[in-house]
Amino acid sequence: MLHHEQVVIHTGERSGLPVMVAIHSTALGPAAGGLRLWHYPDWRDGLADALRLSAAMTAKFAVAGLPGGGGKTVVVLPGRGELDPRRRRDVLRDVADVIASLGGRYATGPDVGTGPDDMALIGETTPYVFCRPARLGGSGDSSPHTARGSLAALRAVGRRLYGTASMKGLRLAVMGLGRVGAGLARLLAAEGAALTVTDIDPAGRGIADELGALWCPPDGILAADVDILVPAALGSVLTKQTVPELRCRAVVGPANNQLASPDVADLLHHRGIVWVPDHVVSAGGVINAVSTELHRVGADRAQARVLAIETTVDELLDTAHRHGRTPARAAEELALRRLRGASAPAGSP
Ligand code: PHE
Repeated sequence: MLHHEQVVIHTGERSGLPVMVAIHSTALGPAAGGLRLWHYPDWRDGLADALRLSAAMTAKFAVAGLPGGGGKTVVVLPGRGELDPRRRRDVLRDVADVIASLGGRYATGPDVGTGPDDMALIGETTPYVFCRPARLGGSGDSSPHTARGSLAALRAVGRRLYGTASMKGLRLAVMGLGRVGAGLARLLAAEGAALTVTDIDPAGRGIADELGALWCPPDGILAADVDILVPAALGSVLTKQTVPELRCRAVVGPANNQLASPDVADLLHHRGIVWVPDHVVSAGGVINAVSTELHRVGADRAQARVLAIETTVDELLDTAHRHGRTPARAAEELALRRLRGASAPAGSP
């Protein structure tokens, strides 16, 4: 796809850690994308992640039909454990300074390792931050909206494969019970889906029990005999090695960057497994935040935009089917069409 517009690597004055902000595209509007605080073997791996994730945010907005662009911030955490609260505050203030320096070309939000309280702290320095707690005028936790948007995507796939948008009786395997994964598992359980769940944290068993779901160890979930596999944790779970193990008919989940490389989409297609691109499935969080905070639409209209993911997925599957392409290709073409349309000079034919 397109190359990045701007990448900033700035070593924070307080934390001494490199803050990496990747702005992929502002062709459709100012860039948005979360702040990821995570461990990587090397800071360059964090940079590579920021580059990939910000490009995915561009596609997320373009496919959702929203006037926004793609960006992402990554700070590579040292060592293995959590940051102590003081250090964490330093990191967040360093991030806030970098965002402020970008003058509104990019706004951040929550992502892996961050939440609304972190956004509140960033908001003390710069207004370019989504999902602050409601008491501070933000739209709060984005994960319930991401979960609802993911369910909308699942409905479209359910209709195509089984002729019904209801999740009742469908066998689904949810990988990852973080804020989004657990929320989605709850929605699915409430609708009567037959759930298998896992998490790297054994405490997830408690959620499994509460939902009447089957618990499966993390290393067994990919090969679970289910209708739909729902990746809801970290990325790169679909690889040349894992795709042959799958026993599902579709992979549809909100985890970012599920494919280890883009050609894995073709492997899935050849196995007859429907894969809906993660950036389409996971768009609910950012759609709600941008709609309510930036476009100032009411909660109902924002919610309708989130639920429209069902129509988007319907159309992608339809286009893919008609043209013998993967849904990934169909999504990429749609995104490029919208981005090219936006960058055409005014008055051009
Ligand atoms: N983690 C969110 C995503 O990947 C990022 C985000 C949410 C950004 C809400 C802004 C607002 O879409």
